[in-house]
Amino acid sequence: MKIAVLPGDGIGPEITAQAVRVLQTLSRDGLHIELETALVGGAAFDASGDPLPAATIAVCESADAILFGAVGGPQYDTLPRAQRPEQGLLRLRKHFDLFANLRPAIVYPELAHASTLRAEVVAGLDLLILRELTGDIYFGQPRGIRINEAGEREGFDTMRYSESEIRRIAHTAFQAARKRAGRVCSVDKANVLETTQLWRDVVTEVHQEYTDVALTHMYVDNAAMQLIRNPKQFDVIVTGNMFGDILSDEASMLTGSIGMLPSASLNARGFGLYEPIHGSAPDIAGKELANPLATILSTAMLLRYSLDQAGAADRIEAAVRQVLAKGLRTADIAQAGEATVGTRAMGDAVIAALG
Ligand code: IPM
Ligand code: MG
Repeated sequence: MKIAVLPGDGIGPEITAQAVRVLQTLSRDGLHIELETALVGGAAFDASGDPLPAATIAVCESADAILFGAVGGPQYDTLPRAQRPEQGLLRLRKHFDLFANLRPAIVYPELAHASTLRAEVVAGLDLLILRELTGDIYFGQPRGIRINEAGEREGFDTMRYSESEIRRIAHTAFQAARKRAGRVCSVDKANVLETTQLWRDVVTEVHQEYTDVALTHMYVDNAAMQLIRNPKQFDVIVTGNMFGDILSDEASMLTGSIGMLPSASLNARGFGLYEPIHGSAPDIAGKELANPLATILSTAMLLRYSLDQAGAADRIEAAVRQVLAKGLRTADIAQAGEATVGTRAMGDAVIAALG
């Protein structure tokens, strides 16, 4: 089994280094995995002028799964869009048709107090945000900045979803709900946007094949509010690319920190890219401050979904629970006055807890 490791920019290299150490520990225990590192994002642009060089695509194609860190940094923000680090990630998602983005938000009992919401609102939360990842306004054409008839600049993007794109993510949502609490909430803006009216219609049609699953619909503005008001009402939230981007950052704060949320981006054959949902955090890069747990938990998802190694995934998730129970905290999940550990020390603790 081979994993392509793409550390990327900012804190990406620090956090993936800890996940790689976890994988190496599991290899010593008999899990046969080969790792190959490749450049992506700003690091790849600096080396080759392209945020997703052909050599990196080749490494990913030869692998069974991709472990991804983070991309982006202020020094790249003025580059032409095609050369920006984020394109490395967006092109990878498109190239491998990674349409199903699973973003679970779990509140660990020890961290219920780390959330900015009252502990009783978030304690016990177990929510799955399923974000469609290869369509919507992220990829719709035409798009651009042009001079309009009045002679002023005008920006435009196209929100677009085909029926088949909606259908396949709806199937993923209902199948995921069957393995969970059996409830899907589909989030749209069908009161205003045609694209999401079609979304609602198609999700409702697909639901006919899953009558054992409960389906509700919610407008995205209400969903943003309900996530803060009463997040435990949700089991699976399925939504489009842009709404999912926004709602998953919001949901991360229920768990105490964006540094805790892993993700899996899967295609129809189970090949996947695994990454923390947080970004490259250039302000804390290289300072040993980043929380590696979202990346370590992404590695557990990788083992579970792409390599069929549920036992190894369970071991990692149990180790993370154990270090949290022991009181280890990086700065993002510490309460005032609590002692904190750095990125590598958190990795050490997880490795020790693997047993
Ligand atoms: C995410 C990120 C990306 C996105 C960026 C880095 C392109 O915010 O994975 O949520 O918008 O999808
Ligand atoms: Mg995002």
